[in-house]
Amino acid sequence: MSQKTILITGGAGFIGSHLVRRMVRAYPEHRIVNLDSLTYAGNLENLKDVESADNYHFVKADINDLAAMQQVISEWQVTGVIHLAAESHVDRSITDPLSFIHTNIVGTANLLLAALKHWQGGAEFDRFFHVSTDEVYGSLGKTGYFLETTPYDPRSPYSASKASSDHIVRAYHHTYGFPVVISNCSNNYGPYQFPEKLIPLMINNIRQSKALPVYGDGTNVRDWLWVEDHASAIDLIYREGVDGETYNIGGNNEMQNIELVQLLCDVMDDQLGRDPGSSRELITFVKDRPGHDARYAIDSGKIQRELGWEPSLTPQQGFKKTVEWYLANQEWLDRVTSGTYQTYYESMYQSAES
Ligand code: NAD
Ligand code: TYD
Repeated sequence: MSQKTILITGGAGFIGSHLVRRMVRAYPEHRIVNLDSLTYAGNLENLKDVESADNYHFVKADINDLAAMQQVISEWQVTGVIHLAAESHVDRSITDPLSFIHTNIVGTANLLLAALKHWQGGAEFDRFFHVSTDEVYGSLGKTGYFLETTPYDPRSPYSASKASSDHIVRAYHHTYGFPVVISNCSNNYGPYQFPEKLIPLMINNIRQSKALPVYGDGTNVRDWLWVEDHASAIDLIYREGVDGETYNIGGNNEMQNIELVQLLCDVMDDQLGRDPGSSRELITFVKDRPGHDARYAIDSGKIQRELGWEPSLTPQQGFKKTVEWYLANQEWLDRVTSGTYQTYYESMYQSAES
């Protein structure tokens, strides 16, 4: 088999680093090129254990730079793209929507155009895989699930920017016959997630006995998936998915935010040897997120039936492993929450300061 070169964008981020690690180890015969501009969310420390592998390469570049995308794709003779680079945090999209429009829409369009030209020029090219979110489908009531056929109804600048990029990717398939595939996944959790997102933020605050800011009344529901199970699904779809298709990925693990925060408190009390129930006293209900989506729930039947994917961990195993990892890697948490994180935290959470 000839050597392939798979370009993974956003590989220094949370999900990207798990995917890069998996691909570098699973496919030593292929080159894995991680393209990342290293924003606040990108951290090469997340990839220390694979950085010296022969088949791993890092390129610092910005997807907003079309010429750079053309150059990287052609110089590395890229045979496939898995695109994760994005601005990914809903709260930041509310205070700074334009960064999301630039990176998630224009950046994706740049990468897509560069890949299309490469393919149209006759280069060997397997596919362009766009990694997206279940948030494009909007917000559910108490019942029902997101299917691949659910009409898009994004409601935050983040989800609207991801929805736009999904449409552009799909349009390239219909218009040019470009081989694309899209996945829409539910909320991920696990090691190396930047502590602006719910789970690592709560773990970080619990360990420091700081207030735990739960938005609104805490009854919003999310469907949580262990990040390595997302990486396994991406790997599978990349190899076996059908061009032009969309695959929903989810953990079948719906929880209200308040239930999840209480669970994290109890697991942390246990692991830190604190009095049972003591961390729950840190829970503080704060002003709700504007336009806060009530419930996300994914039906991942299609990828299970058609590609045979299933999650490897139960939620209980996953949450325990996650807490264990953050407690064993407190220097990582300290490093990523030093410097500008403090300013971010203060501006977002004034009302939660205890
Ligand atoms: P993340 O914020 O942890 O990482 C994003 C990465 O992209 C960072 O390494 C960052 O440096 C890089 N990046 C940002 N802008 C860039 C640019 N202009 N050029 C090059 N690199 C840039 O995000 P994540 O949580 O790992 O999410 C990865 C992808 O998966 C995103 O596309 C997101 O929409 C999608 N997704 C995330 C979740 C989730 O729960 N986190 C769920 C479903 C889908
Ligand atoms: P988040 O991790 O930001 O993911 P998303 O908004 O993309 O689903 O938030 C998950 C849920 O937790 C969401 O309903 C908002 C809520 N949340 C809080 O209650 N407090 C917080 O400090 C954060 C960051 C989120």
